[in-house]
Amino acid sequence: MRKTFLLIMLSVLLVFKAMADEGMWIPMLIGKNIADMQRLGFKLTAEDLYSINKSSLKDAIVQFGGGCTGELISAEGLLITNHHCGYPEIQSHSTVDNNLLANGFWATTRADELPNPGLKVRFLVRMDDVTNLVLKNVTPSMAEKERQKLIQEVAYSLIDSAKKEGVGYEAIVRPFYSGNQYFMFVYQVFEDVRLVGAPPESIGKFGGDTDNWVWPRHTGDFSLFRIYADKNNNPAPYSPGNVPFKPKKFLKISTKGVKEGDFTLVYGFPGRTQQYITSHAVNLLINQSNPHKIQLRDARLSIFNRFMNANDTIAIKYAAKHARVANAWKKWIGETMGLNRLNAVGKKQELESMFAAWAASKPDLKEQYGWLLPKFAAFYNELAPLSLVVDYRNEAVYGVELLSFASRFERLLSMVFDANADRGKLKEQSDNLQEYVRDFFKDFELAVDKEVFASMMQAYYERVPREYQPDFLQRLTEQQGNWRKLAGQIYSQTVFADSVRVLTLLHDLDSTNAKEFINDPIFSIYSEFEGFYRRNVQKRYFEITDSLEILYRYYVDGLMRMQPDKRFFPDANSTLRIAYGKVGGFSPRDGVVYNFYTTIDGIYEKSLQRDVPDYVPPKRLMELYQAKDFGPYAVNGTLPVAFIATNHTTGGNSGSPVLDAEGNLIGVNFDRCWESTMSDVMFDPNYCRNITLDIRYVLFIIDRFAGANHLLSEMVLVQ
Ligand code: ARG
Ligand code: ASP
Repeated sequence: MRKTFLLIMLSVLLVFKAMADEGMWIPMLIGKNIADMQRLGFKLTAEDLYSINKSSLKDAIVQFGGGCTGELISAEGLLITNHHCGYPEIQSHSTVDNNLLANGFWATTRADELPNPGLKVRFLVRMDDVTNLVLKNVTPSMAEKERQKLIQEVAYSLIDSAKKEGVGYEAIVRPFYSGNQYFMFVYQVFEDVRLVGAPPESIGKFGGDTDNWVWPRHTGDFSLFRIYADKNNNPAPYSPGNVPFKPKKFLKISTKGVKEGDFTLVYGFPGRTQQYITSHAVNLLINQSNPHKIQLRDARLSIFNRFMNANDTIAIKYAAKHARVANAWKKWIGETMGLNRLNAVGKKQELESMFAAWAASKPDLKEQYGWLLPKFAAFYNELAPLSLVVDYRNEAVYGVELLSFASRFERLLSMVFDANADRGKLKEQSDNLQEYVRDFFKDFELAVDKEVFASMMQAYYERVPREYQPDFLQRLTEQQGNWRKLAGQIYSQTVFADSVRVLTLLHDLDSTNAKEFINDPIFSIYSEFEGFYRRNVQKRYFEITDSLEILYRYYVDGLMRMQPDKRFFPDANSTLRIAYGKVGGFSPRDGVVYNFYTTIDGIYEKSLQRDVPDYVPPKRLMELYQAKDFGPYAVNGTLPVAFIATNHTTGGNSGSPVLDAEGNLIGVNFDRCWESTMSDVMFDPNYCRNITLDIRYVLFIIDRFAGANHLLSEMVLVQ
């Protein structure tokens, strides 16, 4: 026993030694990694990265909007993020006559900078380990509900007092390591954030969906914004009288460039990873969930493509939808392939065998952890069919635009028949919905959605087991047997396809009008699906996922005890993290080697593929290319565009600063390679690379392409 146990521990150590570069670390605790970072070449200290006593690099970084990162690059509140992160704002300022997406935008004076209602950026003021506080009254024998209640009570009171500490302060408490630790994050939130500059899409989105998630990459994926504050440098709602915000810290920009092996650091807000899930969860992901979701999106995308290729108006209307659907679709395909290639299920099973042996090695461990793995197996078994229904609900039911549109009406319609409902609230909700309706129809094309409906209903009918189907699906097929014909009928009858009628009914929403919605075939179909889901799936699904969360709390705690020398990083949860690694190419498959950087030569090469609409660079860019007019940004007669490195990143890291060993900005993170996309579940330094836009390409575009030199003069460049 002892000997096998030692062998097991030795292999654990070996497995994890190889995993340098993996991890998204907590800024406040980065001191624990600093020796490792310095060994890789990092020249700064932990205090330089995160400090509450002096300004530190964290003060130059913001969470941008809901799901991206941005960083300050001037003393006057200038901020850089990705083009795809600023996309909604750039789009919202675009009209047919003044299309900022197509033409790009460069504010020549401060007065030209464009406000963006609703857009917020968050600075992390500080974070605190509040584990002992929130768990203060929690006991091991306590019921889960009671435990959660106590944790929430403390969290709310901490948040309440933190919010009062400063203007525009917000706070959140988040579980880490599956609820074994808790941290509080105090943010200062700014809401006057103006658009300053963006290249045309033919640069900012060069390569489009064709190149998305793919290396080699040539996307100039950046946009510029400026944070405005009141006269006291505090957050304030938009006002023409606001002034550029003076940050505590902004990043200096290095034009030195990168070499293979150079240290790099990514400092940003990764959204979600699942590093500690069991083999059962990985199995469910790659053998059920991903394949079904991919298949459903294949069907939707091929319908989009068919219409978009045939009709230019539809092509514009569906561009953003297509990009959104294709982004996750392509990632899931890469993720499944990557996890299969790594034999992730097998590796997780190995770890679980070690865990089982470890847990069996002592009576107290056995009591604490011995029961876990069989429970995981049982829960995931029961979860599988329910999770299939949830996937079909999200992808097939809500994938039909009219069904998801109808779902928006549910609350309001039930309020109409609720005698106790507040009439003022009802009016407000109805006004909001009318606004939503107008937006919805701007980009809606009935013919497209009708086909999507037919295809999604058929898929649900054919691939979800009978006992998980609402009865009406059976009834409908018996009557029809032809989903397209059925779709034709429903789409010709439904009021939800008629924007004028929908708005008229909403405008005077009494019970008669509400009944017209409720009796509508689209609303009925939505209600049948949703009713079935709520009666037969939802409750048990959440009981199981809640129970799994508790199991993970024990499991992650056990893993950490089993491997006391391993440094565990907590899964991403949209809080600020540091990842570090080195610049370098890799071999994605046999016989192929990827170089670590790309240049403008590749833009020219891609532009020669004249049949690919994603590969049409602006004429002016190609003129600069032909003239080799690269200014001071050239290297060996060409211009660097992007590079890859081994930093562990995920969705939300888009726009994150990529720093060199001295903490200078060398690029802006925007994607991962396709062969890397399994890193949310399992990281492998042989295949995992984040993609960074080289800051010299950014400077070149601002300087030579756009001639926006006034912006350059705000920045501090170092050699
Ligand atoms: N794959 C990147 C990310 O997950 C970029 C997405 C935007 N670009 C696109 N072509 N859809 O956000
Ligand atoms: N493109 C992603 C983002 O927008 C980054 C990634 O998933 O690597 O955050």
